[in-house]
Amino acid sequence: MNEKQRLESQQAQRPKDSKVEKDYSKYFQSVYMPPSLKDARRRGREEVKYHDDFKIDTRYQGMGDGRKFYIRTYGCQMNEHDTEVMAGIFLSLGYEPTETVEDADVILLNTCAIRENAENKVFGELGHLKSLKLEKPDLLLGVCGCMAQQESVVNRILQKHQFVDMIFGTHNIHRLPEILSEAYMAKEMVVEVWSKEGDVIENLPKVRAGKIKGWVNIMYGCDKFCTYCIVPYTRGKERSRRPEDIIQEVRQLAAHGYQEITLLGQNVNAYGKDFEDIEYRLGDLMDDLRKVNIPRIRFTTSHPRDFDDHLIEVLAKKGNLAEHIHLPVQSGSSDILKIMGRKYTREQYLELVRKIKAAIPDVSLTTDIIVGFPNETDEQFEETMSLYKEVGFETAYTFIYSPREGTPAAKMQDNVSMEVKRERLQRLNDLVNEYSRKAMESFEGQTLEVLVEGESKNNPEILSGYTRKNKLVNFRGPKSAIGKLVMVKIKKAKTWTLDGEMVDISESVEVI
Ligand code: 5AD
Ligand code: SF4
Repeated sequence: MNEKQRLESQQAQRPKDSKVEKDYSKYFQSVYMPPSLKDARRRGREEVKYHDDFKIDTRYQGMGDGRKFYIRTYGCQMNEHDTEVMAGIFLSLGYEPTETVEDADVILLNTCAIRENAENKVFGELGHLKSLKLEKPDLLLGVCGCMAQQESVVNRILQKHQFVDMIFGTHNIHRLPEILSEAYMAKEMVVEVWSKEGDVIENLPKVRAGKIKGWVNIMYGCDKFCTYCIVPYTRGKERSRRPEDIIQEVRQLAAHGYQEITLLGQNVNAYGKDFEDIEYRLGDLMDDLRKVNIPRIRFTTSHPRDFDDHLIEVLAKKGNLAEHIHLPVQSGSSDILKIMGRKYTREQYLELVRKIKAAIPDVSLTTDIIVGFPNETDEQFEETMSLYKEVGFETAYTFIYSPREGTPAAKMQDNVSMEVKRERLQRLNDLVNEYSRKAMESFEGQTLEVLVEGESKNNPEILSGYTRKNKLVNFRGPKSAIGKLVMVKIKKAKTWTLDGEMVDISESVEVI
């Protein structure tokens, strides 16, 4: 049977009738494990188990010899980091990486479910990949990440994109060898999505995308259940990694010459809440990491509700702890915050900002904002505008609310038209640009520490890198500065970037 016939026969076996949608299991038996948002919502009391014995089973060793893989990543840093883990597993199986889809024997789309447009991009890409799949019979095509955790997405792929070979979720990426092996053998699409989170698996292989900056997971999942957000369903309950494992990973990265670490979690301020045997929270972790010999440490993303005084106190000690805090506010209206389920008011947020600024006067604050939440009034939107000014954020990620099936907000009636939502976003973005330019201008004339990441995208003669406050700086300098911390005098501010001149390299900060 050639591949076209295989695809046609696969399609014939797959149900097209929506009446059978609910019970695919009888068609797919061992290869179909359906996700359920309802199950994903449950939060059990079971203890999290930690495993550090991940091994590639001998059955799978060499599975990738002579084969190449390509992973396209959508969404947040957590996804980028998951891609690094999957790349590590591919390499352990003998696969080689490739930069082009045409060259690949396995293509994975590591997807994001946060807003509808993120999902549309993936479905668009699947459309493009269909022709490649028909041309190249042995190509394996997989969809993983947050979209795969949603039953509606899995059903849509099963019905309309039957050329996909495998779907797996965020909780079982360590099962990639098994999933690939099944996909090579199975006639049907392999669907393995666990609705409930798994344990914490420690020693997964990783191929890091960069050699200068690295991501380190400190926790998985989110228990906040903001009413608009799909993440608690796609990423499961909060599970913190043990401090010793995190510290060890950061130390190892430092020993390998990494200069900057970003600690990752969907809600990092809840770090340690789930430990039953120790009292150890994000402030304690940051205090311990402060002693590690690495120039910069950041974390993302914070939830204002769990941001405690001890953490502020520790961050104020600075050293390698960068004075930049990304603190999503989402709205400036206490009424909207209440319906969003954010569990803080405008006043409480402002009080937190006041405390942070008092402890760290030169702190850079950035945020996320959603406009056009169901029934948001003009006055409530104006409260967001006024809060933005009151805090003086240096920049923000701004979004129009996007209903996510299965979340409480998606069921709310909404009397705000898309036109009004777009106008609000435009006004907010104008304000964000104005404040960003102002913040950038304040750096003119200053000499800042820049971690040099490489040549600028548009001009190889120009180097670029980031300051401790995460501002992008472009400047002329020797290639030998790449990967190092150098001092750059800022000559000109633009809205999003700074232009500068490198101060004599001998005056620059020594690389550790
Ligand atoms: N619609 C629009 N924006 C959203 N975000 C999360 N869920 C939604 C949604 N349903 C935004 C929030 C969050 C950021 C990562 O994405 O601002 O902080
Ligand atoms: Fe997107 Fe959230 Fe999933 Fe990240 S965790 S990929 S932002 S849905």
